Amino acid sequence: MTRARFTAPEGFRVLPGWLSPHAQRALIDSVRAIEADAPLYQPAMPRTGTPLSVTMTNCGPLGWVTDKDRGYRYERLHPVTGRPWPPMPQALLDLWEAVSGWPQPPQACLINVYRDTSRMGLHVDADEDARDAPVVSVSLGDPARFRIGGPQRRDPTGSLKLSSGDVVVLAGPARRCHHGVDRIYPGASTLLPEAWRPGRINLTLRRVN
Ligand code: SIN
Ligand code: FE2
Repeated sequence: MTRARFTAPEGFRVLPGWLSPHAQRALIDSVRAIEADAPLYQPAMPRTGTPLSVTMTNCGPLGWVTDKDRGYRYERLHPVTGRPWPPMPQALLDLWEAVSGWPQPPQACLINVYRDTSRMGLHVDADEDARDAPVVSVSLGDPARFRIGGPQRRDPTGSLKLSSGDVVVLAGPARRCHHGVDRIYPGASTLLPEAWRPGRINLTLRRVN
């Protein structure tokens, strides 16, 4: 953490290198198969319609989507193809069981694809009825500068670099804390397929209801 006055919220856990290189490559293969069935699409901010700087898809029974007219929400169907999201890979269900401490399985896995200048503004994950279930996220590909703060947007923040294979858990009080991605470090990893390089993939597992 970079700032003196900042203390990481309770329930914020970083598991550096949790996934082996072999497990990371296997997950990328799964993401490619998911993407072949549920293509990446361009999400947009509610009301303004400003495109996000990441592209997205999902796997699992529910997927997180956003567009100009209907905003942030969970949907059973892909917004472009109208098909159900592909099933969640067993490796992600196993990861959730190993690190979440939550008795029920995750219902949604949001797949964010960051390119060289993509970022993610500070936000709280707040579209789930299951507000107490942890959020578990996986970093793959190029490293990123991840920022975490408090329940209020103006609360002090700190940042850390997340590398491929790192897993983050937002549980307890940290579940309601602001977080985002300042930047990625393009070109540092060759894990992703060439079509997505430079780039970073973040998988976010959530319980929705
Ligand atoms: C998010 O909070 O939506 C993404 C976090 C990340 O990319 O690490
Ligand atoms: Fe988030």
